[in-house]
Amino acid sequence: MGDGVERDVTIYEVGPRDGLQNEKSIVPLADKAEFIRRLVAAGLPVVEATSFVHPSWVPQLADAAELIELLGQDGRRHPVLVPNERGLDRALELGCEHIAIFGSATETFAQRNLNRSLDEQFSMFEPTVARARAAGLDVRAYVSMCFGDPWEGAVPVDQVVTVGKRLLDLGASQLSLGDTIGVGTTGQVGALLDAFNAAGLPDEVLAVHFHDTYGQALANAYAAWQHGIRTFDASAGGLGGCPYAESATGNLATEDLVWMFRGLGVETGVDLDALVRISTWMAGILGRPSPSRVVTALG
Ligand code: HMG
Ligand code: MG
Repeated sequence: MGDGVERDVTIYEVGPRDGLQNEKSIVPLADKAEFIRRLVAAGLPVVEATSFVHPSWVPQLADAAELIELLGQDGRRHPVLVPNERGLDRALELGCEHIAIFGSATETFAQRNLNRSLDEQFSMFEPTVARARAAGLDVRAYVSMCFGDPWEGAVPVDQVVTVGKRLLDLGASQLSLGDTIGVGTTGQVGALLDAFNAAGLPDEVLAVHFHDTYGQALANAYAAWQHGIRTFDASAGGLGGCPYAESATGNLATEDLVWMFRGLGVETGVDLDALVRISTWMAGILGRPSPSRVVTALG
């Protein structure tokens, strides 16, 4: 952060990565860089920029290296997704300071998203995190399919906690709990957070990452806030999804989250009007309106 703004919560913006990875059209490189710069200027303290995954798996983000270079010195402080040592090499070459690994709580999604079994994913992450930490990088870990999986149905809480704890224990500083397909509801959010707390992971090391498929993302964020979570992933304009998860739709819109916190008197440090202008501009580039109700109301 380091921008001198007082914040009660941290919004971890994933629009340029989770949002643009799922778009049919490839956003021009210069517009991606401008998107990130504008989000930072609007007061977002963390903006995940892109992914160093296999370019044929996510062609939308194949220009990851060019994007970080184009952002210059500032590019290095934006977190980037890294699945393996090859991705880490690419991030290290550019001087990236924050990476995020992304594991799956289910067997099927591990295979579909990472081409690895549930167990094999750890053999891929372990040396990646060890080398990243040795090089002084900060590592975030995501765990996907925390509530439901399109192939396996409901995911047992114990399974999510076991995978999540294992990922964090590799040497990550934060674990983001992903409702990849947006099926979770408030009671389940509380139960999962309680289970993580009981396993020795306090709310301080946890973040929540909601997708809005069933319109529950904002309610789930509120439940997590009431529980004690203070880091929330969200995507400007509600962009988002996962190309390897059927039925994954947009993330929780950052505007919806900022509007809720503003009403609660919880400081996010984000300029909502500026953010709405950014999402409206990006919607023009993508050729479709933002699904966020707040963007529609204020735009
Ligand atoms: P693989 O095919 O098993 O890779 O894919 P491999 O290890 O067998 O390597 C095959 C070739 O790929 C090799 O090249 C490697 O060098 C190259 P060759 O020797 O044949 O010439 N390669 C790479 N090249 C560039 N960058 C790399 C890389 N890795 C290998 N990083 C892999 C395994 C993990 C790479 C692949 O499955 C992959 O890229 N998956 C990424 C899928 C993805 O990005 N999904 C979306 C993000 S997850 C998400 O959205 C969920 C989240 O938002 C949270 C939530 O909502 O729940 C985070
Ligand atoms: Mg996601």
